Amino acid sequence: MSVKVLFVCLGNICRSPTAEGLFKARLKELGLEDVVLTDSAGTAGWHVGKAPDERSITAAAERGVDISDLRARQVSEQDFAEFDYIMAMDEANLNDLMSFRPDDFKGRCCLYLDYAINTPEREVPDPYYGGAEGFAYVLDLVEQAGAGLLEDIQKSHLARS
Ligand code: 4NP
Repeated sequence: MSVKVLFVCLGNICRSPTAEGLFKARLKELGLEDVVLTDSAGTAGWHVGKAPDERSITAAAERGVDISDLRARQVSEQDFAEFDYIMAMDEANLNDLMSFRPDDFKGRCCLYLDYAINTPEREVPDPYYGGAEGFAYVLDLVEQAGAGLLEDIQKSHLARS
């Protein structure tokens, strides 16, 4: 049995690959990388095939995580058939996802920061047009949400394995 998690933002070159990379690194530390599978995607198709933004690669590397091998793709309705958790970085991403979510989707599609216990934010702010501090802040937020998401997955899916 595996659990599949998809991280979604607008361009799939800043926030969602950062969220995916950090979460995957944590799964590896725990030996869960073959049990919990991850991917990321953008609601827009502008950057399909591209590596993450250099500023995201640098910010993640500063915390010991290499996200340079990830490549952007666009989210599709088919993702709802495949993934158990679809995590939107902001309200606009969530609205876009909800507009084509099939009625029979049984998983969780929500804001990623719904899983963060200790943050005043509801959304992961888009760092694309800002400076390096915005990219570092994305890491702070996705680390917190990742801890909460992992706890939920462990409780809901892995408790008996
Ligand atoms: P992301 O950031 O959604 O976190 O990947 C963005 C990346 C690219 C653009 C906007 C946001 N863009 O306008 O190209």
